[in-house]
Amino acid sequence: MQIAVIGSNMVDLITYTNSLPKAGETLEAPDFAIGCGGKGANQAVAAAKLGGNVMMISKVGDDLFAPNTVANLQQQGVDTRYVTTAPGTSSGVAPIFVDDQSQNRILIIKGANQQLKPADIDDAAEALTSCKLMILQLEIPLETVYYAIDFARQHNIKVILNPAPAVADLDIQYACKCDFFMPNETELEILTGMPVSTDEEVQLAGQSLLKRGLKNLIITLGSRGSLWMTGDDLHHVAPTPVKAVDTSGAGDAFIGCFAYVLVKTGDIAEAMSQASAYAACSVTGRGTQRSYPDADSFQRFLNVQ
Ligand code: RIB
Ligand code: NA
Repeated sequence: MQIAVIGSNMVDLITYTNSLPKAGETLEAPDFAIGCGGKGANQAVAAAKLGGNVMMISKVGDDLFAPNTVANLQQQGVDTRYVTTAPGTSSGVAPIFVDDQSQNRILIIKGANQQLKPADIDDAAEALTSCKLMILQLEIPLETVYYAIDFARQHNIKVILNPAPAVADLDIQYACKCDFFMPNETELEILTGMPVSTDEEVQLAGQSLLKRGLKNLIITLGSRGSLWMTGDDLHHVAPTPVKAVDTSGAGDAFIGCFAYVLVKTGDIAEAMSQASAYAACSVTGRGTQRSYPDADSFQRFLNVQ
């Protein structure tokens, strides 16, 4: 294996609507779709669809969603040997609301994902040690994330930490042990308590994190592109202009593609520019994983850009 994703899977319950009900009110929404999601699974699937060799360590619930989640990961080419059932729990679910500006609002109920423990990393230790890159997010217990980072350090595995969803009390010491720290602008705002509405503000917030010892900070900025900052350098990737339909899971598409290209080429700037285009392609389709192109469709998308 080359890439290990240690993280969440969720069932996405996506409602397309411009208005949310008030207390006591019933509102009809125009459209709904169900799909496989979860930040961890999304990132794993994006990398696998592009041709990456990906394994996932994850927990499914003891319910009717679980077999479908595992089958989907397998269909997309993700190794699911370490995707196990947490007895007596429900699978993670994510009610998502997408408006006609293609903006998403996401609620998560972690369910079984809360049961992913350090012991699950130990159980997969042998397979993990052969990986070059580990990807982590924050939809599983923080103690597991920290344990995984220490495991990766001991075994010379590079780490991408995607601090999503953001938690204000994230231990920055652990973020500093990672090779790449990849928040979006909202997460950057929560982590720093600083405003992020202009490019200058984003850079100032980024610098405040870098001063605390981060190595590579990569910030995804939606329709404003993405930014790679180190202690002494700054590299901006312009967005690929597209007509967005549904931005849910675009950040995960970026990270999955970034990981795939990074492992293949070792070139960070190249990984960013491909990831940026891959995420742009994903927002032209509805849903999260279902909107991620495979290598052929991604190539066709790039050809017409
Ligand atoms: O980042 C998008 C994802 O966040 C969705 O797929 C949802 O499941 C939540 O985990
Ligand atoms: Na999409």
